[in-house]
Order: sequence, then C-alpha cells, then structure tokens
Amino acid sequence: MPMITIMSSGKTVEAAEGVSILQALLAAEAGIAHKCDGKAECGSCHITVREGRKSLSKIQREENEKLDALVGVGSGSRLACQAKLGTENITVELL
Ligand code: FES
Repeated sequence: MPMITIMSSGKTVEAAEGVSILQALLAAEAGIAHKCDGKAECGSCHITVREGRKSLSKIQREENEKLDALVGVGSGSRLACQAKLGTENITVELL
C-alpha cells in the first residue's frame, strides 16, 4: 500500500492503490480543500507532488484545463481529486 507523506507536518497516510489523493487525505482527516467534491471544477485541491509523481495516474484533459487556469502552478502541480495513487509512496505539499 502506498504511503502519502504530507509536507511540512510530516504526517503520513496509508492509502490503497487506485484511490485519489483527495480521497486518501480526507479519509485520514488531513484537512484539504475540495469545494467541488472532486469534479476538477474548483481547483481548490491543488497540491504540489514533491516525490513519486511518476507513479500517479496521468493528467487527463479536465485536470490539465483546470491547472492551466490556476495561479502558482508548477511542474509538480496536480489536482488531488484527479491524481490516483499507484504503488509507490509519494510526498505532497498542501497549498
Ligand atoms: S475538489 Fe475541486 S478540483 Fe479537486
């Protein structure tokens, strides 16, 4: 099972492969914004993935379009509601 490490608290969350980062963080009560409840419409779940990015699901069109519209997007940016976990551990920064 992949682990999610949250910067800068260092909190770790165990999650199942195939669930979104948002689902995993909400289940662990990690406190992440999600105004549209995971529909890739609000952008409030924007996070930066610091490690393990390649193990996540690929960015699809809706996520890409929403990221294009956000301020402060970088190479590690993902929408937590759209990025699904693979088999590897990841480290994320909540924005
Ligand atoms: S919860 Fe709205 S874009 Fe992810």
